[in-house]
This record gives sequence, C-alpha cells and structure tokens, in this order.
Amino acid sequence: MERWPTVVLGAGGMVSQRLQQRLAHHPWFSLAAVAGSARFNGRSLAEVPWILEEARPELPNLTVVDVEDEVLMARLASEGVRIAFSALPSDEAERLEPRWASHGIAVFSNASAFRRHPGIPLVIPELNPEALSLPAGKPHRHVCATNCTLLPLALPFAALNDTYAITNFTMRSEQGLSGGGFGYMQEALERGDVDPTIPGEAEKTEAELRHVLGWTGAAEVRCGRVMRADGHHVFVTVETEKPMTEEDASACLVRWSSQHVMPELPSAPHQPLMLVDRIDPTSHLHADGRQFKALDSAHHLSTGMAITVGNIVCETPHRLRFEGYSHNTLRGAAGGVIYLAELARSMEAI
Ligand SMILES: NC(=O)c1ccc[n+]([C@@H]2O[C@H](COP(=O)([O-])OP(=O)(O)OC[C@H]3O[C@@H](n4cnc5c(N)ncnc54)[C@H](OP(=O)(O)O)[C@@H]3O)[C@@H](O)[C@H]2O)c1
Repeated sequence: MERWPTVVLGAGGMVSQRLQQRLAHHPWFSLAAVAGSARFNGRSLAEVPWILEEARPELPNLTVVDVEDEVLMARLASEGVRIAFSALPSDEAERLEPRWASHGIAVFSNASAFRRHPGIPLVIPELNPEALSLPAGKPHRHVCATNCTLLPLALPFAALNDTYAITNFTMRSEQGLSGGGFGYMQEALERGDVDPTIPGEAEKTEAELRHVLGWTGAAEVRCGRVMRADGHHVFVTVETEKPMTEEDASACLVRWSSQHVMPELPSAPHQPLMLVDRIDPTSHLHADGRQFKALDSAHHLSTGMAITVGNIVCETPHRLRFEGYSHNTLRGAAGGVIYLAELARSMEAI
C-alpha cells in the first residue's frame, strides 16, 4: 500500500513526539513535515529536544515549518500531504485546524476544540466507526479522537451495556501527570506533588461517552490527577437492567473483545480488552491485547493500544464494579488518532 505523506502539528510536545515515534516506520503513513510554534519553527527536527523516555527514532531530515503559515499549508497540500495529525493545545487547535482542513488536508485531532461539533465525527474505532460514513459522499476534512480518560471507561462500558443494558454508573479516575502535557508533568515531578483537581475533565468525559455511545442513563463522574507519569486508571460501578454474575460479565467482556478486533489496521490492538485479576498500574501500562511490553520499536504499533480490565466484582445481580486502565499518550492520544486515520483510510472516508 502506498504510504500517504502526513504532517504533525506541534513539534516538541508529548503527543507530537508520540506521533512522530509512531509515524517513523508506519506502513500506511509517512512523516513528511512537522509544523511547530514559534519556539521551534525554522530549526532542524533533530535539534528539537526529544522528551520521550524511549530513544529518538530514526526520523526524516526535516526542518520544522511554521504551523501558522498559510502559504506552506497550500504548498504541502499541493505536494500530496493528505493528513494533518494535530497535537495542538485546544485554543490553537480552534484557530488553526480549520485553516489546515480548508486546504484539503484531513485533520485528525487530539485536541478538545472540535469534539462533538456538528459535522465533525468524534470516533472510537471499535465503538462508532459508522460516524465516519460519508455525508453525501464528501470526504471528511476534520475528525476528532476522544478525551484520553474516556478510553478505559468506554470500551468495557460498551461491552457490558450491549449485553446487560446499563441504567446508571459512577466513575472515579486516577490520571497520570503526562495527561496534562510535558511542562505540567515536569513541574509536578520537580515539586513532588500535584493538585488532584482537573477542571472540566469529568464533564468532558461524561459528555463524550454519551455522544459516542448514544447512551442516556444517569451518571456521576469524578476525575483526579495522581503522582504517576503515565496511565489513566478508572474505577467504575455500573447498574444494569439485566442480571449477571461475575463469570458471565467476564465472559461477556472476552467475547465482545474478540468480536471487535480489526487486524487489518496496523495500530489495532490484538484484542481491545485485556482481562486481568488485578490491575497493576506499572506492569500493565503497555497492554497490546496479548501481552504487556514497552515500546521497544516503532514497529510495534499495537503497543499500548489495548484497555486492561480487572478487579471485576459483582456486588448484586444488577450491580458490577470493574477497573479499566490505559496509556493516555498511546491509546489515549497519538496511537488512538493514528488508528482512527487508518480506519478512515480503510473506509475510504478521507
Ligand atoms: N497528553 C495526553 O495524554 C493527551 C491525551 C489526549 C489529548 N491530548 C491533547 O493533545 C494536545 C497536546 O497535548 P500534549 O500533552 O502534547 O501537550 P504538551 O506536551 O504540553 O505540548 C504542547 C504542544 O502544543 C504545541 N503548542 C503550544 N503552543 C502553541 C502555539 N502557540 N501554537 C502552535 N502550537 C503550540 C507545542 O508545539 P511546539 O512544540 O511546536 O511548541 C506542543 O507540541 C492537547 O490538546 C491535549 O489536550 C493530550
């Protein structure tokens, strides 16, 4: 398959570098350009400090271009750049993503600015791929990935809801520092503590769950930050219309998972859900749906793409507790948005 040239919006941030890492050897997409803010544009990509813990991958010899430059957007489009992967902060995304899209480059965004906007699909590949179906045959120019906290909730939630009809749920999260960006994480690590509050996060998570699943029950969602670099852990209790046992619920999650594999997509996890007895936030960080292993090569695109589910307890036949866990900058951001672009390309939706 021909590799489509892509541009990454944002040069030196956490999600931008995760995107660069995953695109370095991607079979369907290549890294043709990196467009940065004033702090890096005009500099060689090799001079941008590499902030991920894994070694800098072999990247093309690029000069970081200006993310604001309208002439450049037109030039990249004319040179065949098909996709812009956006790792911009929300305010910049609101201003800049429509400009990139207006040049015919399909923007796949990790920012919250356009989530739930009419005409802009908000998609989790296993849950609502139909949202990418073409409106009147016109290709999509702007697509959004969800909030990173939603992933470890939404996949097991959807599996249980399909079978047992969830009427209401409560969720509390413990979210890693990297979810706040590189500067935020560094400051917290230097200070040795963090403010546990995350303004607006619970509201976003609940609203996006309802949007993606079309679910309308009652919910109580609380989100909190903890002193851990990566990994978002959610603690969920669901109440259901139909009765279940712990064994049935576990079997339902395993069955749903095996029915939602997308082996044709390079970034798909081997299984979207990986069941364990108890979740360990350190050793379960890099779930790929088959095993837990760190990203030792950009060839391993499924690394960090599965949701780990554990600590399943059936409190009554109509009430179940479970925990979900996933890597916020992999499945929850860069890996997730590339996975989404793979789905859109396979559906000929862009
Ligand atoms: N971290 C996560 O787990 C996560 C998960 C899901 C979604 N997201 C979303 O992904 C986006 C990036 O987050 P991050 O974690 O990578 O943050 P980060 O580590 O703080 O990096 C900030 C990024 O924003 C760019 N940027 C900052 N000011 C800019 C400006 N004025 N104009 C253009 N670009 C500017 C930077 O580009 P330069 O390097 O070129 O300055 C950099 O790539 C945010 O919208 C965030 O909400 C993050």
